[in-house]
Amino acid sequence: MTRNAVNVTVTGAAGQIGYALLFRIASGHLLGPDVPVKLRLLEITPALGAAEGTAMELDDCAFPLLEGIEISDDPNVAFDGANVALLVGARPRTKGMERGDLLEANGGIFKPQGRAINDHAADDVKVLVVGNPANTNALIAQAAAPDVPAERFTAMTRLDHNRALTQLAKKTGTAVTDIRKLTIWGNHSATQYPDIFHAEVAGKNAAETVNDETWLADEFIPTVAKRGAAIIEARGASSAASAANAAIDHVHTWVNGTPAGDWTSMGIPSDGSYGVPEGLISSFPVTCADGTYKIVQGLDINDFSRARIDASVQELAEERDAVRGLGLL
Ligand code: NAD
Ligand code: LMR
Repeated sequence: MTRNAVNVTVTGAAGQIGYALLFRIASGHLLGPDVPVKLRLLEITPALGAAEGTAMELDDCAFPLLEGIEISDDPNVAFDGANVALLVGARPRTKGMERGDLLEANGGIFKPQGRAINDHAADDVKVLVVGNPANTNALIAQAAAPDVPAERFTAMTRLDHNRALTQLAKKTGTAVTDIRKLTIWGNHSATQYPDIFHAEVAGKNAAETVNDETWLADEFIPTVAKRGAAIIEARGASSAASAANAAIDHVHTWVNGTPAGDWTSMGIPSDGSYGVPEGLISSFPVTCADGTYKIVQGLDINDFSRARIDASVQELAEERDAVRGLGLL
């Protein structure tokens, strides 16, 4: 059976994540090896030439699944008919810029993009925000798209999840495939909380297997939470291929489901679960099936975890209040 092509819009297409992402989307890693895709690339006007160059390279790969590429600097064009929207382009923090300036600059990007998604995307659109501050940018876009179900706006914490998998596998001398049920809670920022109390390593409880609270508090959590900064320090640029890989993982899981007996982490609008105020876009443990996700319920949260989840959620609430103060919500 021939399937209809899925329209995938990527913003910031000429950036470094875009360069690592587009070739994998076109080769079938985002949606599956039998799903044709049409790419719609959004860039700012001065970067259109670079986006054209990337499109030429995509053409030169002769990907069997790639049915077309359109490039635009107009969100109303780029999001037209979008089934999947990957919001990667964002305003990076520059010298002397305060947090409020960054939120305001990103409001200028994510508000019109949210509106364009509202007015032009396909009814089944799924949105992943990668551009930082990802959770709050997702909130801004969502607020500008009242006709799109709120749960379609998600923020990426899969990179943090993947980072945590590898750190735990290294500590326990196991393979990442031996680890299940790890959770990233909260914000994609240094306050995030990677939780191993419900995780399993080769079928046994991870926290009990590790049995080392000093490692947990002083090594594991800070290594995962500050990994983005460590990459910037080492590479002189923020993570790109690993971020693109995580974006692929996030959407692939959302569309194709989580394996039985496991879950993943996604930044999603809170329904009030685990004491996270309703509406905040916060990372939770989720299972996915049939193109939808559900928060894993009923986990016992110990005092160690509670304090860390609350701190990250508090930061999210402050970011929300700041963008509300700027009139972006
Ligand atoms: P980059 O600077 O290389 O590329 C960003 C691109 O976005 C540029 O080409 C720029 O022209 C474009 N852009 C800017 N404003 C735009 C707009 N209004 N519409 C369309 N395009 C626009 O940056 P990058 O390394 O690709 O990173 C992109 C974002 O992803 C950054 O905000 C970064 O902090 C974030 N990031 C998030 C995670 C995560 O885990 N959530 C991980 C890594 C990076
Ligand atoms: C990352 O986690 O690698 C990035 O979000 C870091 C950054 O600030 O771009």
